[in-house]
Amino acid sequence: MEKNILSLGGLGRSFGTTRAVDSVSLDIGPGEFVGIIGRSGAGKSTLLRLVNRLIEPTDGRIAFGGQDVTALKGSALRDWRRQCAMIFQQFNLIDRLDVLTNVLVGRLAVHGFASSMAMRFSDAERALAIRALDRLDLAPQALQKAGTLSGGQQQRVAIARAQVQNPRILLADEPIASLDPGNATRVMDALRSINNEDGITVLVNLHTLDTARAYCDRIIGMRCGRVIFDGSARDLTATVVREIYGSEDLSDFNESVTSTTIRPGVPA
Ligand SMILES: Nc1ncnc2c1ncn2[C@@H]1O[C@H](COP(=O)(O)OP(=O)(O)O)[C@@H](O)[C@H]1O
Ligand SMILES: [Mg+2]
Repeated sequence: MEKNILSLGGLGRSFGTTRAVDSVSLDIGPGEFVGIIGRSGAGKSTLLRLVNRLIEPTDGRIAFGGQDVTALKGSALRDWRRQCAMIFQQFNLIDRLDVLTNVLVGRLAVHGFASSMAMRFSDAERALAIRALDRLDLAPQALQKAGTLSGGQQQRVAIARAQVQNPRILLADEPIASLDPGNATRVMDALRSINNEDGITVLVNLHTLDTARAYCDRIIGMRCGRVIFDGSARDLTATVVREIYGSEDLSDFNESVTSTTIRPGVPA
């Protein structure tokens, strides 16, 4: 097994009679930028949560670099969760704490339990957190309460928090679904630069097709828990799009695409 390949084999998760994820087999290589698309309920969120073991599979296997992730327990499981940082649609920051402290929360994944409780951080960790904020143009906001920031800024803080965890894989569940197009672009650009510069694998669930086309090397289309497309943006033809999103009227979807079209920003 080649090093650092995330490998899903026959992965499945049922909720009662619903097969949220159904026999998903994928290999994702280091440094890939993968977009997962599909209708609401297709199983995108469940798939990401299975990967970082926020939820347990009912069948199948997850491996990373040949190591069985599905069997990890205790500190080995905690370390796996540190290695795959998660970013959510609703940012999940602590509003009443300042931005810097929110970023440092990412370090708790690296600490043992006792020092996590004390929320004590070293100068080196503070410097690391400031650097992460600075890369995302947020150093001036370091001492501001997180709740006072715009949505786009808050999501970038969440990205900085994920970064100080020193992850191998970044899992982002619809990170731009509640942002306006300008902020959405900045957040996607931030994910792309982390992917390019740090070589971190990015797996991102996306609601809009244009974003997937603009940013992702590889697009995975899910429907009813299954992977029904796996290829490049170029291979994503109108026929395939119809298969992924269903044969119903696509006008709502197309409208959201044209009104919120975002494009990669010019690299700084
Ligand atoms: N905790 C849960 N309990 C019951 N059903 C769930 C749960 N989580 C997800 N599901 C169901 O699994 C399916 C896939 O959901 P989800 O992974 O959230 O899809 P997506 O993220 O693509 O919208 C849906 O039918 C959803 O209702
Ligand atoms: Mg979801």
